[in-house]
Amino acid sequence: MKSIIIAGGAGFIGSNFIFHMRKAHPEYRIICLDKLTYAGNLSTLRPVLEQPKFRFVKGDICDRSGVYRLFEEERPDIVVNFAAESHVDRSIENPRIFLETNIIGAGVLMDACRKYGIERYHQVSTDEVYGELPLDQPELYFTEESPLHASSPYSASKAGADLLVMAYYRTYGLPVTISRCGNNYGPYQFPEKLIPLMVTNCLNGKPLPVYGDGLNVRDWLYVEDHCKAIDLIIRKGRAGEIYNVSGHNEMHNIDIVKQICKELGKPESLITYVPDRKGHDRRYAIDTSKIRNELGWQPETEFTDGIKKTIRWYVENRDWWDDAIKRAPESAAIIL
Ligand SMILES: NC(=O)c1ccc[n+]([C@@H]2O[C@H](COP(=O)([O-])OP(=O)(O)OC[C@H]3O[C@@H](n4cnc5c(N)ncnc54)[C@H](O)[C@@H]3O)[C@@H](O)[C@H]2O)c1
Repeated sequence: MKSIIIAGGAGFIGSNFIFHMRKAHPEYRIICLDKLTYAGNLSTLRPVLEQPKFRFVKGDICDRSGVYRLFEEERPDIVVNFAAESHVDRSIENPRIFLETNIIGAGVLMDACRKYGIERYHQVSTDEVYGELPLDQPELYFTEESPLHASSPYSASKAGADLLVMAYYRTYGLPVTISRCGNNYGPYQFPEKLIPLMVTNCLNGKPLPVYGDGLNVRDWLYVEDHCKAIDLIIRKGRAGEIYNVSGHNEMHNIDIVKQICKELGKPESLITYVPDRKGHDRRYAIDTSKIRNELGWQPETEFTDGIKKTIRWYVENRDWWDDAIKRAPESAAIIL
């Protein structure tokens, strides 16, 4: 029986990962370590909270003694780190907490891995660490070898953590892997990110704020496909390696917003263009040959199906997102 610590498991991707692991590997003991910031929600984990092979621990990955205590008690085989401050707009307003959680926190978790010994530490990273590509050269993609060129304090903090993870591999031989994924969408995403923000604003009859000209391109992946990729990497991926993960489903932000309006039967006149985000990257796109060829991973959910499922989930789970919006800290930049 393996035991796995999932840091940040009360957030969007982490909670979906817990549900995936419960189904795919019911024999694993799962320990979720989460600080429950505004983005973490214990109610999301209700379906697993009372299960015998599941434990929830409220704690901060930056709290060294708390993290060591947990490792002492649980002696995990695997650690997957989703815990992060994850919203670019908030990082522009207040970078400090991003540096603390995303870099220092990853370092504390890896120190605990060194002290107690583990089979694998996996760092969940992002395609944003590579920076932007131009819109007029659609044939360009970032590979795992591309240099890091982060644009925002958020992506810089993620890039910093990635460098630290690779340094722990080189210096201490810690068995690490990193996945760098494109934009995820699906259930339980906090309604400050593009898709849930637009869906919930539509459902509330509020304006749909779109940055700049709306032509920024993001590469969208249904969250369950990302979870399956991480599951494969932690079991079959090679230590010391980075794997890009994406759906090869590039879309302009404005086209996503229009599709959401169409699905919900709302007029496009709700769309309002707002001044562009500072340092806003134009296009993200990554080459995923490595994970496809080496591990046989490929995305299973088409965007047309995934977006319908996601919208339906938000329509049916108003209590979840109403509550999330109420708990969100004030921000000048975010139009909830
Ligand atoms: N959402 C995306 O599209 C996307 C894409 C690529 C990579 N990622 C990465 O995946 C990871 C998860 O993203 P998400 O969208 O689920 O984020 P999220 O903001 O929904 O969840 C983050 C979780 O981490 C927890 N957390 C924050 N600070 C913590 C701390 N100091 N100690 C313990 N827990 C803490 C929060 O309470 C929350 O439950 C992040 O590392 C993010 O950079 C996200």
